Amino acid sequence: MNLELNIENVFPFVHKESFSDYEELTRYHIRQLHQRTGKGANFLGWIDLPSGITEGYLSEIEDLAKEMNEKIEVMVVVGIGGSYLGAKAVIDALSHSFDMCINGRSFPKVIFAGQNISEDYIGELVDFLDSKSYAITVISKSGTTTEPAIAFRILRNHLEKKYGTAEAGKRIIAITSASRGALRNLVNEKGYRSFVIPDEVGGRYSLLTPVGLVPICQAGFDIRQIVEGAMSMEEMTRPGTPFRDNPSAVYAAARNALYRQSPKTEILASYNPKLIYLAEWWKQLYGESEGKEKKGIFPASVTFTADLHSMGQYIQEGQRNLFETVISILKPRREVVIPLEEDDADELNYLAGRRIEEVNHMAELGTMLAHIDGGVPNILIKLPELNEYYLGQLMYFFQKACAISGYLMNVNPFDQPGVETYKNNMFALLKKPGFEEETELIYKRINT
Ligand code: PA5
Repeated sequence: MNLELNIENVFPFVHKESFSDYEELTRYHIRQLHQRTGKGANFLGWIDLPSGITEGYLSEIEDLAKEMNEKIEVMVVVGIGGSYLGAKAVIDALSHSFDMCINGRSFPKVIFAGQNISEDYIGELVDFLDSKSYAITVISKSGTTTEPAIAFRILRNHLEKKYGTAEAGKRIIAITSASRGALRNLVNEKGYRSFVIPDEVGGRYSLLTPVGLVPICQAGFDIRQIVEGAMSMEEMTRPGTPFRDNPSAVYAAARNALYRQSPKTEILASYNPKLIYLAEWWKQLYGESEGKEKKGIFPASVTFTADLHSMGQYIQEGQRNLFETVISILKPRREVVIPLEEDDADELNYLAGRRIEEVNHMAELGTMLAHIDGGVPNILIKLPELNEYYLGQLMYFFQKACAISGYLMNVNPFDQPGVETYKNNMFALLKKPGFEEETELIYKRINT
Protein backbone atom coordinates (compact mmCIF):
# COMPACT_ATOMS: atom_id res chain seq x y z
CA MET A 1 0.00 0.00 0.00
CA ASN A 2 1.05 3.58 -0.62
CA LEU A 3 -0.06 7.06 0.26
CA GLU A 4 -3.20 7.84 -1.76
CA LEU A 5 -4.47 11.17 -2.97
CA ASN A 6 -8.11 11.94 -3.70
CA ILE A 7 -8.98 15.25 -5.39
CA GLU A 8 -12.60 14.40 -6.37
CA ASN A 9 -13.89 17.10 -4.05
CA VAL A 10 -11.91 19.78 -5.82
CA PHE A 11 -14.03 19.44 -8.97
CA PRO A 12 -17.25 20.94 -7.72
CA PHE A 13 -15.10 24.09 -7.51
CA VAL A 14 -12.72 23.76 -10.49
CA HIS A 15 -13.60 22.94 -14.13
CA LYS A 16 -12.23 19.56 -15.20
CA GLU A 17 -11.27 20.97 -18.64
CA SER A 18 -9.09 23.73 -17.20
CA PHE A 19 -7.53 21.21 -14.81
CA SER A 20 -6.29 19.10 -17.71
CA ASP A 21 -3.83 21.89 -18.65
CA TYR A 22 -1.87 20.96 -15.55
CA GLU A 23 -0.92 17.60 -16.96
CA GLU A 24 1.51 19.13 -19.47
CA LEU A 25 2.55 21.96 -17.13
CA THR A 26 3.54 19.65 -14.27
CA ARG A 27 5.35 17.30 -16.69
CA TYR A 28 7.40 20.29 -17.87
CA HIS A 29 8.24 21.44 -14.33
CA ILE A 30 9.16 17.94 -13.12
CA ARG A 31 11.59 17.71 -16.04
CA GLN A 32 12.99 21.12 -15.11
CA LEU A 33 13.49 19.95 -11.54
CA HIS A 34 15.27 16.75 -12.51
CA GLN A 35 17.37 18.39 -15.22
CA ARG A 36 18.14 21.27 -12.86
CA THR A 37 17.18 23.93 -15.37
CA GLY A 38 14.56 25.87 -13.36
CA LYS A 39 14.75 28.53 -10.65
CA GLY A 40 16.97 27.76 -7.64
CA ALA A 41 18.60 24.82 -9.45
CA ASN A 42 21.57 24.91 -7.03
CA PHE A 43 19.27 23.76 -4.24
CA LEU A 44 17.97 20.54 -5.73
CA GLY A 45 20.26 18.16 -3.83
CA TRP A 46 17.24 16.79 -1.93
CA ILE A 47 15.48 15.49 -5.03
CA ASP A 48 17.48 12.23 -5.35
CA LEU A 49 18.68 12.13 -1.77
CA PRO A 50 16.62 9.04 -0.72
CA SER A 51 18.11 6.76 -3.37
CA GLY A 52 21.58 8.24 -2.84
CA ILE A 53 21.86 7.45 0.89
CA THR A 54 24.39 4.69 1.54
CA GLU A 55 24.40 1.90 4.10
CA GLY A 56 27.65 3.25 5.58
CA TYR A 57 26.14 6.67 6.08
CA LEU A 58 23.15 5.30 7.98
CA SER A 59 25.38 3.04 10.09
CA GLU A 60 27.54 6.00 11.08
CA ILE A 61 24.47 7.87 12.35
CA GLU A 62 23.15 4.77 14.15
CA ASP A 63 26.50 3.98 15.80
CA LEU A 64 26.94 7.48 17.16
CA ALA A 65 23.35 7.56 18.45
CA LYS A 66 23.91 4.21 20.21
CA GLU A 67 27.16 5.33 21.79
CA MET A 68 25.70 8.61 23.02
CA ASN A 69 22.40 7.12 24.14
CA GLU A 70 24.17 4.73 26.51
CA LYS A 71 25.19 7.57 28.76
CA ILE A 72 22.36 10.10 28.58
CA GLU A 73 18.76 10.57 29.68
CA VAL A 74 18.10 13.66 27.55
CA MET A 75 19.31 14.83 24.14
CA VAL A 76 18.85 18.55 23.56
CA VAL A 77 18.58 19.30 19.85
CA VAL A 78 19.35 22.95 19.11
CA GLY A 79 18.09 24.42 15.83
CA ILE A 80 15.36 26.51 14.19
CA GLY A 81 13.20 26.43 11.02
CA GLY A 82 14.42 23.79 8.60
CA SER A 83 17.06 22.76 11.13
CA TYR A 84 14.34 21.81 13.61
CA LEU A 85 10.87 21.15 12.24
CA GLY A 86 11.43 17.95 10.22
CA ALA A 87 12.93 16.05 13.15
CA LYS A 88 10.35 17.45 15.57
CA ALA A 89 7.52 16.47 13.20
CA VAL A 90 8.68 12.85 12.89
CA ILE A 91 9.58 12.39 16.56
CA ASP A 92 6.21 13.77 17.72
CA ALA A 93 4.31 11.70 15.18
CA LEU A 94 5.96 8.46 16.31
CA SER A 95 6.41 8.99 20.05
CA HIS A 96 4.07 7.73 22.70
CA SER A 97 2.07 10.76 23.82
CA PHE A 98 2.92 10.27 27.48
CA ASP A 99 5.79 7.79 27.81
CA MET A 100 9.24 7.67 26.19
CA CYS A 101 9.33 3.89 26.26
CA ILE A 102 9.04 2.34 22.79
CA ASN A 103 8.34 -1.40 22.65
CA GLY A 104 9.84 -1.81 26.09
CA ARG A 105 13.12 -0.15 25.06
CA SER A 106 13.89 3.18 26.64
CA PHE A 107 15.48 5.94 24.60
CA PRO A 108 16.66 9.37 25.70
CA LYS A 109 14.03 12.04 25.70
CA VAL A 110 14.77 14.29 22.73
CA ILE A 111 13.89 17.90 23.47
CA PHE A 112 14.44 21.03 21.43
CA ALA A 113 16.01 24.43 22.02
CA GLY A 114 17.13 27.38 19.93
CA GLN A 115 13.75 27.57 18.15
CA ASN A 116 12.85 30.71 20.13
CA ILE A 117 14.55 33.45 22.16
CA SER A 118 12.29 33.16 25.19
CA GLU A 119 14.18 33.69 28.42
CA ASP A 120 11.55 31.65 30.28
CA TYR A 121 12.04 28.70 27.93
CA ILE A 122 15.82 28.60 28.12
CA GLY A 123 15.86 29.39 31.86
CA GLU A 124 13.48 26.53 32.62
CA LEU A 125 15.40 24.22 30.29
CA VAL A 126 18.63 24.88 32.19
CA ASP A 127 16.81 24.17 35.50
CA PHE A 128 15.51 20.90 34.03
CA LEU A 129 18.96 19.88 32.77
CA ASP A 130 20.63 20.53 36.14
CA SER A 131 19.61 17.10 37.35
CA LYS A 132 19.75 15.22 34.04
CA SER A 133 22.52 13.40 32.23
CA TYR A 134 22.41 15.03 28.84
CA ALA A 135 24.12 15.82 25.54
CA ILE A 136 23.63 18.40 22.82
CA THR A 137 23.09 18.08 19.07
CA VAL A 138 23.42 21.52 17.54
CA ILE A 139 22.14 22.04 13.99
CA SER A 140 22.67 25.09 11.82
CA LYS A 141 23.56 25.05 8.13
CA SER A 142 24.79 28.65 8.09
CA GLY A 143 26.25 28.24 11.56
CA THR A 144 25.36 31.84 12.27
CA THR A 145 21.61 31.87 13.06
CA THR A 146 21.07 33.95 16.20
CA GLU A 147 18.43 31.88 18.01
CA PRO A 148 20.31 28.53 18.02
CA ALA A 149 23.67 30.30 18.49
CA ILE A 150 22.45 31.90 21.75
CA ALA A 151 20.89 28.66 23.03
CA PHE A 152 24.03 26.70 22.14
CA ARG A 153 26.30 29.17 23.96
CA ILE A 154 24.15 28.95 27.13
CA LEU A 155 23.86 25.16 27.01
CA ARG A 156 27.52 24.65 26.13
CA ASN A 157 28.49 26.71 29.19
CA HIS A 158 26.12 24.69 31.35
CA LEU A 159 27.45 21.39 29.97
CA GLU A 160 31.08 22.42 30.49
CA LYS A 161 30.37 23.48 34.09
CA LYS A 162 28.57 20.22 34.76
CA TYR A 163 31.05 17.77 33.16
CA GLY A 164 34.28 19.71 32.55
CA THR A 165 35.44 20.83 29.11
CA ALA A 166 36.80 17.50 27.90
CA GLU A 167 33.70 15.40 28.72
CA ALA A 168 31.38 18.20 27.52
CA GLY A 169 33.20 18.09 24.17
CA LYS A 170 32.40 14.40 23.88
CA ARG A 171 28.72 15.17 24.52
CA ILE A 172 28.34 17.62 21.66
CA ILE A 173 27.48 16.72 18.07
CA ALA A 174 27.37 19.49 15.48
CA ILE A 175 25.54 19.36 12.16
CA THR A 176 26.52 22.18 9.85
CA SER A 177 28.08 23.19 6.54
CA ALA A 178 31.33 21.49 5.50
CA SER A 179 33.44 24.59 5.56
CA ARG A 180 31.50 27.78 6.35
CA GLY A 181 30.13 29.57 9.42
CA ALA A 182 30.85 30.07 13.10
CA LEU A 183 29.61 26.60 14.06
CA ARG A 184 32.08 24.91 11.69
CA ASN A 185 34.83 27.12 13.20
CA LEU A 186 33.80 25.95 16.68
CA VAL A 187 33.91 22.31 15.52
CA ASN A 188 37.42 22.82 14.14
CA GLU A 189 38.57 24.57 17.29
CA LYS A 190 37.01 22.25 19.89
CA GLY A 191 37.09 18.95 17.99
CA TYR A 192 33.34 18.18 18.31
CA ARG A 193 32.04 15.27 16.30
CA SER A 194 30.13 16.56 13.33
CA PHE A 195 28.02 15.78 10.28
CA VAL A 196 27.80 17.83 7.10
CA ILE A 197 24.70 19.47 5.59
CA PRO A 198 25.20 19.42 1.81
CA ASP A 199 25.38 22.92 0.28
CA GLU A 200 22.76 22.02 -2.33
CA VAL A 201 20.04 21.12 0.22
CA GLY A 202 18.07 23.99 1.81
CA GLY A 203 16.82 23.82 5.41
CA ARG A 204 13.18 22.95 4.76
CA TYR A 205 14.15 20.17 2.33
CA SER A 206 16.77 18.67 4.67
CA LEU A 207 14.84 15.92 6.49
CA LEU A 208 16.90 13.17 4.87
CA THR A 209 20.25 14.76 5.67
CA PRO A 210 21.75 14.45 9.18
CA VAL A 211 19.53 17.43 10.10
CA GLY A 212 16.55 15.09 10.34
CA LEU A 213 18.12 11.64 10.50
CA VAL A 214 20.43 12.21 13.49
CA PRO A 215 17.77 13.43 16.00
CA ILE A 216 15.21 10.90 14.75
CA CYS A 217 17.72 8.09 15.25
CA GLN A 218 18.67 9.46 18.69
CA ALA A 219 14.99 9.27 19.64
CA GLY A 220 15.00 5.56 18.80
CA PHE A 221 13.19 5.53 15.45
CA ASP A 222 14.08 3.58 12.34
CA ILE A 223 15.76 5.94 9.92
CA ARG A 224 16.19 3.17 7.35
CA GLN A 225 12.41 2.89 7.04
CA ILE A 226 12.08 6.65 6.61
CA VAL A 227 14.60 6.55 3.78
CA GLU A 228 12.83 3.50 2.26
CA GLY A 229 9.49 5.30 2.32
CA ALA A 230 10.96 8.45 0.79
CA MET A 231 12.71 6.35 -1.84
CA SER A 232 9.41 4.75 -2.89
CA MET A 233 7.93 8.25 -3.32
CA GLU A 234 11.04 9.40 -5.22
CA GLU A 235 10.31 6.52 -7.59
CA MET A 236 6.58 7.35 -7.88
CA THR A 237 7.23 11.01 -8.69
CA ARG A 238 9.94 10.60 -11.34
CA PRO A 239 9.68 12.42 -14.72
CA GLY A 240 8.36 9.39 -16.63
CA THR A 241 5.41 8.71 -14.28
CA PRO A 242 2.00 9.46 -15.85
CA PHE A 243 0.33 12.51 -14.27
CA ARG A 244 -2.51 10.64 -12.57
CA ASP A 245 -0.03 8.20 -10.93
CA ASN A 246 2.21 10.96 -9.60
CA PRO A 247 0.61 12.20 -6.36
CA SER A 248 2.98 15.16 -6.03
CA ALA A 249 2.06 16.40 -9.51
CA VAL A 250 -1.68 15.97 -8.87
CA TYR A 251 -1.54 17.71 -5.47
CA ALA A 252 0.50 20.62 -6.89
CA ALA A 253 -1.95 20.89 -9.78
CA ALA A 254 -5.06 20.77 -7.57
CA ARG A 255 -3.89 23.47 -5.17
CA ASN A 256 -2.79 25.72 -8.05
CA ALA A 257 -6.06 25.22 -9.89
CA LEU A 258 -7.91 26.27 -6.72
CA TYR A 259 -5.54 29.20 -6.08
CA ARG A 260 -6.19 30.56 -9.57
CA GLN A 261 -9.97 30.36 -9.02
CA SER A 262 -10.08 32.17 -5.68
CA PRO A 263 -8.94 30.36 -2.49
CA LYS A 264 -5.77 31.88 -1.12
CA THR A 265 -5.56 29.86 2.11
CA GLU A 266 -4.94 26.14 2.47
CA ILE A 267 -5.81 24.53 5.77
CA LEU A 268 -3.97 21.30 6.53
CA ALA A 269 -6.24 19.26 8.79
CA SER A 270 -5.66 16.03 10.65
CA TYR A 271 -7.61 14.05 13.21
CA ASN A 272 -4.57 12.99 15.24
CA PRO A 273 -2.71 15.36 17.59
CA LYS A 274 0.50 13.45 16.83
CA LEU A 275 0.54 15.37 13.54
CA ILE A 276 0.56 18.89 15.01
CA TYR A 277 4.26 19.35 14.25
CA LEU A 278 3.96 17.65 10.89
CA ALA A 279 1.63 20.53 10.07
CA GLU A 280 4.16 23.04 11.44
CA TRP A 281 6.82 21.50 9.18
CA TRP A 282 4.41 21.64 6.22
CA LYS A 283 3.59 25.30 6.94
CA GLN A 284 7.26 26.24 6.86
CA LEU A 285 7.81 24.22 3.68
CA TYR A 286 4.97 25.86 1.75
CA GLY A 287 5.08 29.29 3.41
CA GLU A 288 8.78 29.88 2.79
CA SER A 289 8.76 28.25 -0.63
CA GLU A 290 5.75 30.03 -2.17
CA GLY A 291 5.17 33.19 -0.17
CA LYS A 292 7.09 35.71 -2.27
CA GLU A 293 6.61 38.28 -5.05
CA LYS A 294 3.12 38.93 -3.59
CA LYS A 295 2.13 35.35 -4.46
CA GLY A 296 1.48 32.12 -2.58
CA ILE A 297 -1.20 30.14 -0.81
CA PHE A 298 -1.24 30.97 2.91
CA PRO A 299 -0.64 27.69 4.78
CA ALA A 300 -2.69 27.24 7.95
CA SER A 301 -3.38 24.15 10.04
CA VAL A 302 -5.95 22.65 12.37
CA THR A 303 -6.21 19.51 14.47
CA PHE A 304 -9.69 18.06 14.55
CA THR A 305 -11.85 17.39 16.31
CA ALA A 306 -10.35 19.82 18.89
CA ASP A 307 -10.34 22.71 16.42
CA LEU A 308 -13.88 22.01 15.24
CA HIS A 309 -14.76 23.60 18.57
CA SER A 310 -12.75 26.72 17.78
CA MET A 311 -11.99 27.12 14.04
CA GLY A 312 -14.89 24.97 12.81
CA GLN A 313 -17.35 27.87 12.71
CA TYR A 314 -15.11 29.97 10.50
CA ILE A 315 -14.29 27.12 8.14
CA GLN A 316 -18.00 26.27 7.79
CA GLU A 317 -19.40 29.77 7.36
CA GLY A 318 -16.68 32.42 7.26
CA GLN A 319 -15.12 34.08 4.21
CA ARG A 320 -15.00 31.63 1.29
CA ASN A 321 -11.33 32.00 0.40
CA LEU A 322 -9.98 28.69 1.65
CA PHE A 323 -9.63 25.03 0.87
CA GLU A 324 -8.83 22.07 3.07
CA THR A 325 -6.26 19.30 2.74
CA VAL A 326 -6.96 16.44 5.12
CA ILE A 327 -4.40 13.85 6.19
CA SER A 328 -6.34 10.74 7.08
CA ILE A 329 -4.53 7.90 8.87
CA LEU A 330 -6.25 4.64 7.94
CA LYS A 331 -4.98 2.39 10.72
CA PRO A 332 -4.45 3.66 14.27
CA ARG A 333 -1.56 2.26 16.32
CA ARG A 334 -3.85 1.33 19.22
CA GLU A 335 -7.25 -0.23 19.72
CA VAL A 336 -9.60 1.30 22.30
CA VAL A 337 -13.24 0.22 22.61
CA ILE A 338 -15.97 2.27 24.27
CA PRO A 339 -17.34 0.31 27.27
CA LEU A 340 -21.00 -0.52 27.96
CA GLU A 341 -22.52 0.94 31.14
CA GLU A 342 -25.71 -0.45 32.55
CA ASP A 343 -27.35 2.80 33.62
CA ASP A 344 -26.28 4.66 30.45
CA ALA A 345 -26.39 7.91 32.41
CA ASP A 346 -24.18 9.63 29.83
CA GLU A 347 -26.34 8.26 26.96
CA LEU A 348 -23.38 6.79 25.16
CA ASN A 349 -24.48 3.17 25.02
CA TYR A 350 -25.29 3.54 21.34
CA LEU A 351 -21.50 3.62 20.89
CA ALA A 352 -20.70 0.80 23.30
CA GLY A 353 -18.47 -1.90 21.84
CA ARG A 354 -17.35 0.36 18.98
CA ARG A 355 -13.80 1.62 18.52
CA ILE A 356 -12.86 5.24 19.23
CA GLU A 357 -11.42 5.23 15.71
CA GLU A 358 -14.86 4.62 14.24
CA VAL A 359 -16.16 7.74 16.00
CA ASN A 360 -13.11 9.73 14.84
CA HIS A 361 -13.56 8.48 11.29
CA MET A 362 -17.26 9.40 11.22
CA ALA A 363 -16.34 12.85 12.55
CA GLU A 364 -13.84 13.11 9.68
CA LEU A 365 -16.35 12.05 7.05
CA GLY A 366 -19.14 14.20 8.49
CA THR A 367 -16.86 17.23 8.64
CA MET A 368 -15.62 16.76 5.08
CA LEU A 369 -19.20 16.63 3.76
CA ALA A 370 -20.25 19.62 5.87
CA HIS A 371 -17.28 21.70 4.71
CA ILE A 372 -17.84 20.81 1.04
CA ASP A 373 -21.50 21.83 1.46
CA GLY A 374 -20.23 25.05 3.03
CA GLY A 375 -18.14 25.81 -0.08
CA VAL A 376 -14.74 24.49 1.05
CA PRO A 377 -12.96 22.36 -1.57
CA ASN A 378 -11.31 19.25 -0.16
CA ILE A 379 -8.11 17.37 -0.98
CA LEU A 380 -7.74 14.05 0.83
CA ILE A 381 -4.42 12.36 1.58
CA LYS A 382 -4.81 8.82 2.88
CA LEU A 383 -1.87 7.38 4.81
CA PRO A 384 -2.11 3.63 5.52
CA GLU A 385 -0.41 3.92 8.92
CA LEU A 386 1.56 6.32 11.07
CA ASN A 387 5.03 4.78 10.92
CA GLU A 388 8.52 5.65 9.69
CA TYR A 389 7.93 4.30 6.19
CA TYR A 390 4.78 6.27 5.49
CA LEU A 391 6.15 9.44 7.08
CA GLY A 392 9.09 9.15 4.68
CA GLN A 393 6.63 8.81 1.80
CA LEU A 394 4.44 11.67 3.00
CA MET A 395 7.24 14.13 3.61
CA TYR A 396 9.01 13.48 0.30
CA PHE A 397 5.58 13.73 -1.42
CA PHE A 398 5.03 17.18 0.13
CA GLN A 399 8.55 18.36 -0.75
CA LYS A 400 8.27 17.31 -4.39
CA ALA A 401 4.78 18.79 -4.69
CA CYS A 402 6.00 22.03 -3.14
CA ALA A 403 8.80 22.36 -5.69
CA ILE A 404 6.37 21.69 -8.58
CA SER A 405 3.83 24.07 -7.09
CA GLY A 406 6.43 26.84 -6.68
CA TYR A 407 7.37 26.48 -10.35
CA LEU A 408 3.67 26.58 -11.32
CA MET A 409 3.50 29.94 -9.47
CA ASN A 410 6.70 31.01 -11.22
CA VAL A 411 8.63 31.63 -8.01
CA ASN A 412 11.90 30.17 -6.73
CA PRO A 413 10.73 27.60 -4.15
CA PHE A 414 14.20 27.24 -2.66
CA ASP A 415 15.05 30.69 -1.34
CA GLN A 416 13.64 32.81 1.48
CA PRO A 417 14.84 36.39 0.94
CA GLY A 418 12.08 37.88 3.09
CA VAL A 419 13.36 36.24 6.27
CA GLU A 420 16.31 38.67 6.37
CA THR A 421 14.19 41.78 7.02
CA TYR A 422 13.37 41.06 10.67
CA LYS A 423 16.95 39.91 11.27
CA ASN A 424 18.40 43.18 9.93
CA ASN A 425 16.07 45.22 12.13
CA MET A 426 16.87 43.08 15.17
CA PHE A 427 20.63 43.39 14.55
CA ALA A 428 20.31 47.16 14.11
CA LEU A 429 18.29 47.45 17.34
CA LEU A 430 20.83 45.26 19.17
CA LYS A 431 23.66 47.45 17.77
CA LYS A 432 25.48 44.53 16.18
CA PRO A 433 28.89 45.55 14.79
CA GLY A 434 28.58 46.20 11.05
CA PHE A 435 25.00 47.54 11.40
CA GLU A 436 25.90 51.11 12.52
CA GLU A 437 24.06 52.87 9.68
CA GLU A 438 20.91 50.75 10.12
CA THR A 439 21.10 51.33 13.89
CA GLU A 440 21.09 55.07 13.45
CA LEU A 441 18.14 54.93 11.06
CA ILE A 442 16.04 52.54 13.11
CA TYR A 443 16.50 54.46 16.37
CA LYS A 444 15.49 57.66 14.59
CA ARG A 445 12.39 55.87 13.31
CA ILE A 446 11.28 54.50 16.69
CA ASN A 447 12.10 57.66 18.62
CA THR A 448 10.03 60.03 16.44
O1 PA5 B 1 14.40 26.56 5.41
C1 PA5 B 1 15.34 27.28 5.71
O2 PA5 B 1 16.32 27.41 4.97
C2 PA5 B 1 15.35 28.04 7.02
O3 PA5 B 1 14.19 27.81 7.73
C3 PA5 B 1 16.55 27.62 7.86
O4 PA5 B 1 16.51 26.24 8.04
C4 PA5 B 1 16.55 28.31 9.23
O5 PA5 B 1 16.57 29.70 9.05
C5 PA5 B 1 17.76 27.89 10.04
O6 PA5 B 1 18.95 28.16 9.35
P1 PA5 B 1 20.31 27.52 9.78
O7 PA5 B 1 20.25 26.06 9.61
O8 PA5 B 1 21.32 28.16 8.86
O9 PA5 B 1 20.54 27.90 11.23
